[in-house]
Amino acid sequence: MLVSAKEMLEKAKAGKYAVGQFNINNLEWTKAVLATAQEMNSPVILGVSEGAGKYMTGFKTVVGMVNGMMEEMKITVPVALHLDHGTYEGCLKCVEAGFSSIMFDGSHYPIEENVAKTRELVDICEKKGMSLEAEVGSIGGEEDGVVGAGECADPKECKEIADLGVTMLAAGIGNIHGKYPENWKGLSFETLAAVQELTGDMPLVLHGGTGIPEDMIKKAISLGVAKINVNTECQLSFAAATREYIEAGKDLQGKGFDPRKLLAPGAEAIKATVKEKMELFGSVNKA
Ligand code: 13P
Repeated sequence: MLVSAKEMLEKAKAGKYAVGQFNINNLEWTKAVLATAQEMNSPVILGVSEGAGKYMTGFKTVVGMVNGMMEEMKITVPVALHLDHGTYEGCLKCVEAGFSSIMFDGSHYPIEENVAKTRELVDICEKKGMSLEAEVGSIGGEEDGVVGAGECADPKECKEIADLGVTMLAAGIGNIHGKYPENWKGLSFETLAAVQELTGDMPLVLHGGTGIPEDMIKKAISLGVAKINVNTECQLSFAAATREYIEAGKDLQGKGFDPRKLLAPGAEAIKATVKEKMELFGSVNKA
């Protein structure tokens, strides 16, 4: 059964490790992440962006697929199904569809509006026993070829949002979605320390987990990060393994064109990436 991310993240924060959120796109992705979490005996968060939800035909399909897999694969580790960077409307849809966790990304609103909308969702999530992630200070990233620098959150605004009763808080600390540019300045640990100082026990979330050097990941965890989101890195591993299969002409040998064979190396590559991240984040055997 799907669980809220609250308990796993409180334990992670107290135990100084982080739980990985791995974004899913389809059946292969979901199966690979769930199998690895079970094998590693690690809690896990399946992230679904609004775009990925649409791709899979809708949030209800995602809930049906994940619940079915949990049962058929006999998954016993804690799994949360989480909306990634949700709009207000997207959050309501996921609550209705049966997600166990949502993120409301109100970082582009003026702080008053972010507070007002987050407050409404806190009430809804409390009634349903769901976890809620809020965001302050937008996460940078590439959009239409323009790479925006990650913003740094205002620690006082973080405290204001944390005090509303959200489960976890994503604060921009110079992190970026996708690959990091050559001239990236690195994470702002000063900002992270200031946010942690004001928000206390609140599990903090680090977005843009792809490409952050290991020492920075470890330092971020030591400063209160308890959830780390990884998306692009699984996509890159999947694409590289699939390319290798095709370039080696394996799809042309025997029944190599069978999708169950064609997509297998990519799925194995996702597993390897997820395993590596769980080891780095320290969540192995923390189920
Ligand atoms: P990356 O794609 O950079 O790993 O970021 C993932 C993320 O933060 C999803 O919210």
